[in-house]
Amino acid sequence: MSLSFGREYLAIPGPSVIPDKVRQAMHQPSPNIYEGPFAETIHSVKMDLKTIAGTSGDVALYATNGHGVWDAALGNIAARDEKVLVLATGQFALHWAELAKSQGVNVQILDFGNRATIDTHKVRSSLKGDKGHKIKAVLAPHVDTATSIRNDIAALRCVLDELGHPAILCADIIASLGCDLVELDEWGVDVAVAACQKGLMTPAGIGVLFFNKKADEARGALGQVNAHWDWRTRAMSDQIYPSFFGTPPTQQVFGLRAALDMLLFDEGLDMALRRHEVLAKAVWAAIDMWSHPDGLRMTAADPTTRSHAVTSVEAVNGGGIRLQRWVKEHLGLTLGRGLGMAGIADPECENFFRIGHMGHVNGHMILGVIGAIDAGLKALDIPHESGALTAATSLIADFTNSRVLAST
Ligand SMILES: Cc1ncc(COP(=O)(O)O)c(C=O)c1O
Repeated sequence: MSLSFGREYLAIPGPSVIPDKVRQAMHQPSPNIYEGPFAETIHSVKMDLKTIAGTSGDVALYATNGHGVWDAALGNIAARDEKVLVLATGQFALHWAELAKSQGVNVQILDFGNRATIDTHKVRSSLKGDKGHKIKAVLAPHVDTATSIRNDIAALRCVLDELGHPAILCADIIASLGCDLVELDEWGVDVAVAACQKGLMTPAGIGVLFFNKKADEARGALGQVNAHWDWRTRAMSDQIYPSFFGTPPTQQVFGLRAALDMLLFDEGLDMALRRHEVLAKAVWAAIDMWSHPDGLRMTAADPTTRSHAVTSVEAVNGGGIRLQRWVKEHLGLTLGRGLGMAGIADPECENFFRIGHMGHVNGHMILGVIGAIDAGLKALDIPHESGALTAATSLIADFTNSRVLAST
């Protein structure tokens, strides 16, 4: 007998849960894309994306996924044979590096592994060694979704400024936007890439590229930019057609508009970020309680280095894959699989799993996930300590009490 009948829950770190309001907003006829109110919808989406990302710079939209917007960023910042420095704390930056190589860009990688954040000392010495300022851009993930490591992007700006290095600072905020605090201008980020299928709660298909004046000046100095990726056409036009360099993904835009309304106006960005923080901490509290040398432990040991969007967990002896299978088969819950964590001994990432807690996720969903994992650990006889649910529910109760107190 299985207990999985009922509404299934996809707790992977993107695509995330799509709110009914977003799905309903998408369920409407195509608008006129040559004139009329749809131009205003696109404009308002761009403005609100800038608010969430904390920037007064420009924004270009693409009918694409995260890989596409990685490509778009590269196309505007580095020509063939020019050099970029990629800082990796998980597989996503490494994939970005591969994409750059495939465009003939000269790539230097500093790989900090799967458990640590970017080491700014190492970045400083690499940039110091770049006497001729050959490095055009520094590419870094704010959050790597594979490891759940969150990097301090502002610290990279400090290193560049301290050395007087002119490289463009380019951040991947695909996993973090809408979940972790993002302050592009305050952090001194020149270019940032985002996508709509995680914290922005919309089906994949809209890539977002933020860029500032400095980045645009550097883009002006590039010999040739692929017209399709060129951020200028898209960002500078008020017209609907050029703003997506062709037919816009109209229903996606309606969906994203509804998601932004939910985030900014129904809930409020501050509260949404706080919700992500509390739910992430409930997950961590549970994992801390379960932790056992022969069972599971957090991938990112230091809580200050963890994202509020996703949590990567190590579960040894194949515990990761066994748990994923058990909760799916018995309880209808899909957890994220380990990604790019494999050493030679773990080619299938069997020793890892990930919990997505990004976007349209609330307390009962997260407590359900924690309860499901707890049941799986028991059923599979995976060594673990008890008390995880108590730890998570106490944390949530304390949070609601402190809010009640604060508001009285
Ligand atoms: C941090 C990060 N960057 C880039 C990507 C690639 O995005 P996509 O799968 O939409 O191409 C992902 C996907 O999960 C991601 O998490």
